[in-house]
Parts: sequence; structure tokens; C-alpha cells
Amino acid sequence: MPVGDDAGLAAGTADAVAATLAGARTVVAVTGAGMSQESGVPTFRDAQTGLWARFDPAELATPEAFRRDPERVFGWYLRRWTLARRAEPHAGYRALAGLADVFDELLVVTQNVDGLHRRAGSPDVVELHGSLEAFRCADAGHPFAADGLEALAGRVPDGPVAPPRCPVCGSPVRPGVVWFGEGLPGAAVERAWAAAESCDAMLVIGTSSLVFPAASVPEIVLRRGRPVIEINPDRTPLTPRARVWWPARAGDALPALAARLHAA
Ligand code: OAD
Repeated sequence: MPVGDDAGLAAGTADAVAATLAGARTVVAVTGAGMSQESGVPTFRDAQTGLWARFDPAELATPEAFRRDPERVFGWYLRRWTLARRAEPHAGYRALAGLADVFDELLVVTQNVDGLHRRAGSPDVVELHGSLEAFRCADAGHPFAADGLEALAGRVPDGPVAPPRCPVCGSPVRPGVVWFGEGLPGAAVERAWAAAESCDAMLVIGTSSLVFPAASVPEIVLRRGRPVIEINPDRTPLTPRARVWWPARAGDALPALAARLHAA
């Protein structure tokens, strides 16, 4: 059933999505901040609660910002890491993890840095924008064990925090996330792009589809003429070209979809 003026755009229901996925053996799920919204992790672009509505990314999420004010940037990421660790994956996360049993391959390609897909049990996850837990030194990329930061995060959750020094080279430790102006991790890009080139279908869940290069992953599947299914309460630039748009929250849609697919 068409939705609004978008020809060919089906009204999203578990049945419509299940029908679109019929016969698919390899599936990629691309996720964004909306996936974690119901776990209490804020999105970026929500007009009221989004991180970039409340904070200036140029002051917090660039290598220049870290060089200029490492204490402010490190403290902010330590706070986000603490919140992510306290968050629990919601039912939609667990349902998506369970779909790994339904397909031959289900690769999750996430822009999120909160680690919730892994904690929910998804066995195959590519983190395109890095991870809040993967601390490393700024100069040489030496890994830095997060364990030592737990006590620090507990003591000073809100204000500036001086980044610890790398025990190998002495340079300041930074979060292992991708900042604006930086390249995506090469291995993650290779895996995600190759999966998009070969998958039977793609789910795109909780992303505004505005940030490139991540937003170009569904474009590959569209170009190949394979179905792209979007789960998002709001429209995005991808919506008019999705085979199915399911205007629902991830925590509602994914358990319903999993129940439908497990019953098939
Ligand atoms: P955005 O904040 O741009 O978009 C979140 C999307 O999730 C929006 O389209 C919402 O409509 C949707 N949404 C909100 N709640 C939802 C729910 N419960 N279920 C399903 N969808 C929901 O976040 P991203 O698209 O992930 O990058 O942003 C992409 C990148 O921009 C982030 O990875 C980050 C940011 O700058 C870096 O920091 C490098």
C-alpha cells in the first residue's frame, strides 16, 4: 500500500517486511542512534534532546577540539561512556540479535559507539564509527585498557577530566570513536561495503541517513535493485526509495518482526 505520495512505498507492517524478506539468506542491518534511543542513549539530531542540539560538535568531536581542550573533550566522552555502560539493550536489540538464527548471515553495521548490539548478543557487528570502549593514545594509536578509567569516570562524571597518558609513548589517551574530519576504520569499511554488495536485503534502523559515508551503504543495495527496509518513526532522505518504510520505533518493530519471522 503506498504511503503519502511516495509511489511504491509500502506501509510498514511486520507482514509486509516479512514478505519483502522472504527468501533472503544474507541480510545486513544498518543502525543509528535511534536504535539506542529507547535504551536511554540520546540521539544526535533530535531538535530537543539530540546531542548536537545541546553541544557543538566542533568543540567536542574533532581532532582539533581534542588538541585545543583535551580535558573538556575527554570528560565529555567519559560521561557518554558511563551512560552507555549503564544503558541496557532494549527488546528490539535482543530481537535483532535473535534474527541471526533466521538468516544464513546477518551482519549488523552500526554507527553507534555504545556497544549495545554486542551486549544484546548480536554475533556479527561492524562498528563504523568506532567504540566508546576502545580507548587509544592520540599520537600512535596504542590501545589503552578501559578498566583503569572506570574509577575515574565514577569520580568525575560531569566536568573536564585530564586524559591519562599512554604508558608506551606518553601521549594523551583519547576515545576510540571517529571524529568529524577523520577516516572510518579501514577493516570496518571493507566489511560493510562488501556485505552491501552481496546481501539479499538490508534493514536500515534508527538513522537519519544524513551522515556520509555511512549513509552510502544503503545506496549500494538500492543500486543493485535489492530491497531496503527502513524502520524509523520519521522520514529521512532514504524513505522515498525504501521498498518498505515502517514508521515505528525499533523497540516495537523489531520484536514484532522477529515473532513473525520465527513463526514462519
Ligand atoms: P541521528 O540523531 O542523526 O538520527 C537518529 C534517527 O533515529 C532519526 O531519524 C530519528 O527519527 C530516529 N529515531 C529516533 N528514535 C527512534 C526509535 N525509537 N526507533 C527508531 N528510530 C528512531 O543519528 P544517526 O543517524 O545515528 O557520528 O547519526 C549518524 C552520525 O551522526 C552518528 O554516528 C554520529 C553523528 O554525528 C559521529 O559522531 C561520527
